[in-house]
Amino acid sequence: MRDAAPTTIYLKDYTPFGYIVDSVHLTFDLAPHATRVKSRIAFRPNPEASDKTFFLHGEELKLIRASIDGAEVTPDVTDKGLTASVPDAPFVWEAEVEIDPGNNTALEGLYMSNGMYCTQCEAEGFRKITYYPDRPDVMSTFTVRINGNLPVLLSNGNPTGKGKGWAEWTDPWPKPAYLFALVAGDLVAHSDGFTTKSGRHVDLNLWVRPGDEGKCAFGMEALKKSMKWDEDVYGREYDLDVFNIVAVDDFNMGAMENKGLNIFNSSAVLASPETSTDANFERIEAIIAHEYFHNWTGNRITCRDWFQLCLKEGLTVFRDAQFTSDMRSAPVKRINDVIELRARQFPEDNGPLAHPVRPESFQEINNFYTATVYEKGAEVIGMLKTLVGDEAYAKALDLYFERHDGQACTIEDWLKVFEDTTGRDLSQFKRWYSQAGTPRVKVEEDWADGTYTLTLSQSTPPTPGQPEKLPQVIPVAVGLLGPNGDEVRGTEVLELTDARQSFTFEGLAAKPVPSILRGFSAPVILEQDSTPAQRAFMLAHDTDPFNRWEAGRALATETLLGMITRDAAPGSDYLDGLLAVMRDDALDPAYRALMLGLPTQSELAGMLHDKGVTPDPMAIWTAVETLRQATAQHMQDLLPRLHSQSLVDGPYRPDAEQSGKRALGSAALALISRLDGGTQAATEYARADNMTLQLSALSCLLKSGKGEAELAAFYEQWRHDRLVMDKWFGLQVALASPDRAPEIARRLTEHPDFNWKNPNRFRALMGGLAMNHAGFHHASGASYELLADWLIRLDPVNPQTTARMCSAFQTWKRYDADRQDLIRAQLIRIAETPDLSRDTTEMISRILA
Ligand code: ARG
Ligand code: ZN
Repeated sequence: MRDAAPTTIYLKDYTPFGYIVDSVHLTFDLAPHATRVKSRIAFRPNPEASDKTFFLHGEELKLIRASIDGAEVTPDVTDKGLTASVPDAPFVWEAEVEIDPGNNTALEGLYMSNGMYCTQCEAEGFRKITYYPDRPDVMSTFTVRINGNLPVLLSNGNPTGKGKGWAEWTDPWPKPAYLFALVAGDLVAHSDGFTTKSGRHVDLNLWVRPGDEGKCAFGMEALKKSMKWDEDVYGREYDLDVFNIVAVDDFNMGAMENKGLNIFNSSAVLASPETSTDANFERIEAIIAHEYFHNWTGNRITCRDWFQLCLKEGLTVFRDAQFTSDMRSAPVKRINDVIELRARQFPEDNGPLAHPVRPESFQEINNFYTATVYEKGAEVIGMLKTLVGDEAYAKALDLYFERHDGQACTIEDWLKVFEDTTGRDLSQFKRWYSQAGTPRVKVEEDWADGTYTLTLSQSTPPTPGQPEKLPQVIPVAVGLLGPNGDEVRGTEVLELTDARQSFTFEGLAAKPVPSILRGFSAPVILEQDSTPAQRAFMLAHDTDPFNRWEAGRALATETLLGMITRDAAPGSDYLDGLLAVMRDDALDPAYRALMLGLPTQSELAGMLHDKGVTPDPMAIWTAVETLRQATAQHMQDLLPRLHSQSLVDGPYRPDAEQSGKRALGSAALALISRLDGGTQAATEYARADNMTLQLSALSCLLKSGKGEAELAAFYEQWRHDRLVMDKWFGLQVALASPDRAPEIARRLTEHPDFNWKNPNRFRALMGGLAMNHAGFHHASGASYELLADWLIRLDPVNPQTTARMCSAFQTWKRYDADRQDLIRAQLIRIAETPDLSRDTTEMISRILA
């Protein structure tokens, strides 16, 4: 571990910067190993700030010269930045620094990817480009001149000059440095245009490396739809003459909303039917929308400090989810989001990495781009909208944009617009931002003389640093069904604000069956003692599509838990209820495909742990396999009909309708493969003409212990395509049988195409291993050791990606003592690695704590 104690930054310590920046001029002389960056920055004292220390962040910079108002100065330089004495009046700071983008493997600041220059500055990467107050509350206009002998030279804002070997860009909108971007390289554009509602013409370009032109059309359409949707639904118009998107192969995250110049991981933008699955298309559409929506929620209104990250991320995730619901199927989107929340956010909220939606301290902010900040942050906004109603939500958002345009804001500012719009006191609601952990809501029922009483109690388990929790405001959407399955009370929202609270429904003819937490109206764990027969009743009758799916999910879960803990047989309520749903051709195929899903093995392990049972990964794996087999047998006659859904009419379209059909067909093929050993999957593989069907057939073959030949053929067919090769690496590991997973993963790390410095490739392989629950938890500890080896190897190269991947270990305390010992040994081995990055040090120490 590093010798220097890591510094912790606290929300409560916020103070404004001593100086205001009026303008920034940057000149880049590009060279792979010696790029020169000249800055000319107009500062003036900030009357609101008491601390007038002139400190500029700067890391890994070689300072060539600096001057103030034209006079050379010699600042005090450390490895974190510099301080200088400055006049108590407006002044111009100039500096020249040299940087080495060609050796920047951390992919933060200015770096190179396949010969192309690009940047990633969020959260604190700009300080690796030049000396600057690199904090989001310092906003300025930027003018950027790029000198470099490359065909395409891009930065933020509008183009304001261009010649041979140079280009100038001016961004008229004041912005924080984290939204700065520069791209230079040999790129080609897929171009289009958009006319905003007030008649402004915007040039749209999607820039890619030559050869990728054929993968741009879908992304461009998604962009145009997003621009239109934000005008129609939020009244938000685009505000520059040009909007550029660039695809980059080496990128730590999904994408980045730099003003007017979004930079995307190529996996989050490039798409074609032959190389991308339906799920890829949907994800790409959502990410393009997300980054575009940031133009208002993030860029025009930004964050005061990084503790407020959810201000832009929670809101923008919420907005992109609304967009996807409008473009596709709202119930399917909601169910998918809840599946994701349970798979990624619940483990975080219920383990050593738990933190509030608005964290109160951090060592490395990059470690807080989490499912809690993003996805739970979006759930919190959804609850707010449910509580105040759609109309008040729209009014509050209008006020937010009007009041705070051009500002760097806080969660307090955000809640205030809702308080001012509705007159509601949101102080208790604010606990959603400050208390970590997933609330449990327990249900009790009472029935007497036509009155039905629902008593709800809430409690939130302790999380690191928060032993006691106060009650939160939980909107619980409830409907009541009568004994014949008719809805006797439509959905109403109960506001649970106390630790325990009763709600009565009067004038009922018979004891109703409650449908609670419809639409998953709050990110909580509902504890309701229902019998399998009651669940089956809801599965057959609930009018709320989410809760109908949830009833099936609960039946599946309870069956699996019974099989694991009591050696019970697969439940007939589940099998019969599922069969009835699958037979109902009036139901959306996408929805039926979701019904066929099961909780993940990791989720089951978490539930067992919650019940005080130590999860045995192999027992969980066996139960899931057994239930799958029983399901296949139970639905045998129906499977060919379900499978034929994937043979759609007409050319491939990645829309909701066709992809829903393929999802159902693929789910059916997986069950068929359990009965025929993969015979039909081999036929389907041979005739697949799109990646969705090709990959689903290949998955079935691998799961059947076959597919060697197909795997080799797939490699030959796609070895030239990085994004498809990521799938090839990931699939083999994720679907390997538990006993073979560590060895298959290890062998693949020796493959010549395992370019481990590429985050997508590293994540494909190591993430695939972590996803293979029983394989990752192989009793030998071989997978733990393999992952630790590679984390140790990657850390000095790319701390961010290393630190993120550490979360594979976050659930370690659920497992038995032998496995805990094996994992602890690996965590300690990582922690004791000399010169471990701040990112990984923080993650490992939190996981170990
Ligand atoms: N703001 C980006 C988004 O759209 C994510 C950037 C995250 N970058 C990072 N280094 N953690 O969500
Ligand atoms: Zn975002």
